[in-house]
Amino acid sequence: MAHLGHDVVGIDIDANKVEGLQRGELPILEHGLDELVAEGVDAGRLRFTTDGVAAVVDRQFIFLCVPTPQGADGAADLSYIQEAARTLGPHLASDSVVVNKSTVPVGSARVVAAELRRDDVSVVSNPEFLREGSAVADFLNPDRVVIGSDDRAAAMATAELYSSLNAPIMITDPASAETIKYASNAFLATKLSFINAVAAVCEAVGADVADVVTGMGYDTRIGPEFLRPGPGWGGSCFPKDTQAMVRIAADAGYDFGLLKGVVEVNDQQFDRVVDKIRRGAGGTLEGATVAIWGLTFKARTDDLRDSPAIEVASRLLAAGASVTAYDPTVEPGDESKAVPDGVRVVGDPLQASTDAAVLAVMTEWDQFRWVDLHRVAKAMTGDAVIDGRNLLNPTEVRAAGLSYDGIGRS
Ligand code: UDX
Repeated sequence: MAHLGHDVVGIDIDANKVEGLQRGELPILEHGLDELVAEGVDAGRLRFTTDGVAAVVDRQFIFLCVPTPQGADGAADLSYIQEAARTLGPHLASDSVVVNKSTVPVGSARVVAAELRRDDVSVVSNPEFLREGSAVADFLNPDRVVIGSDDRAAAMATAELYSSLNAPIMITDPASAETIKYASNAFLATKLSFINAVAAVCEAVGADVADVVTGMGYDTRIGPEFLRPGPGWGGSCFPKDTQAMVRIAADAGYDFGLLKGVVEVNDQQFDRVVDKIRRGAGGTLEGATVAIWGLTFKARTDDLRDSPAIEVASRLLAAGASVTAYDPTVEPGDESKAVPDGVRVVGDPLQASTDAAVLAVMTEWDQFRWVDLHRVAKAMTGDAVIDGRNLLNPTEVRAAGLSYDGIGRS
C-alpha cells in the first residue's frame, strides 16, 4: 500500500515484531518484501507501532489482517478479529472504513460491525489472494480485486486505493466477497486433489501424469495451472479454508460432500507417500532410516504450517522410522515447534542422506536438482529415492545406481 503511494501505519501487538520492522527486519521470508518495506520507511510513507489506539485516530481506512485460525469443528476462530474491532472501535475517525482482509466466514462483516459499535464507520470485505513466496508480485499484479460492502460509497473509496493497479476491480455484497475467497481456495484444492488422484490412476495403468497434465492443459477450459501432483497440499490457507467451507455449508444446511472428498484424498496422499517410503525401505518402517529433503509446505517460503513434509515425517516416526531432514530455511538445532520431536535436522542435503535407506524429496527447492546423486548414492545405505514433487530426473537418479519412484510417473 505504501508502494502505491498511500500513507501507511502497521499495527501489531507483538513489540519484537514492530521493533524489527522499524529496523527493516522482516519476521517472514517473502521475496521482494524487504525492499518494499525499506522503500516505504525511507520515503516516510510507512511506519510500525504497537499503539493501535493512537495510530487509528486519523486513518481513513483500517485494514484488519489478523489470523483466523481453525477453531472447534473446523470453523474459523474469529476472536482476534473481534478483539481488534472491539479495541479500536471507539477511537476510529468518523466516516472511516474498516476493511476486512482476514479470511472470515460469510456474515463476518456484520460481526465486525457489531463489535465496532459505530454507526458512522463502514465495514468492507476485501479478501486477499496472495500466495506465500510471490505475495509481492501477486499484490502488485492481481488477477482481480474483490470488494464487498452494503455501503456503495465505502466500497468505491476502497476500490480507489487500488486504482493504480492494472487489475479488474469487482464490487459486490459482503457475503459474495467472503464466499469468493473460500470458493477460490476450495476450487484450487479440488484441482490439486483431483490431479493427485489422477496420478494414482496413472501409476496403476502405466500412464505418465506429466503428459496427462500437458494434454489436459491444452484445453482452455481446464488450463495447465495448479495441476502439479505432489505429496498433498498444505500451508496456512488450504487446509483451514477447505474445512471452514465444509463447516460454513453444513451450518447453512448443505452437505458439501465433494469438498469433504477433496480433503480426504489429500489425507490419503500423505499415506500414499508413506507407503512408497515403506516399500522403498523393503516393506517395513520399523527401524528404517529415512532422509527428507525439504520441510516447508512449498518452496520459496520458510512456512512450516500444515506442511505435507511435516505430516509425512510424523507418520514415519509413528511407524517406527528414524528421520533426518534438511531444509534451506531450517537451521539445525533451531527447529521450530512445527518440526516434530524426533526429526533430526542437519545442515545440508548430502548429510541428510548419509546412512539413509530411503531418500524422500518433499519440497520442490531448486537446489535439490543440483545435488551430486553419485555422492548421495555412496552416502546412503539403501537405494530408494521417493520423489514427492517429481523434481528429479528419473534417468539421472537411476544412472547414479538408485531406484526412482515419483508421483504418477510411469
Ligand atoms: C494459497 C492460494 O494460492 C492463495 O491465493 C491464497 O491467498 C492463500 O492460499 P499459498 O498457501 O501461499 O496460497 O500456497 P499455494 O501456492 O497456493 O500452494 C498450496 C499448496 O498446494 C502447497 O502445499 C503447494 O505445494 C501445493 N501445490 C500447489 C501443489 O501441490 N501443486 C500445484 O500445482 C500447486
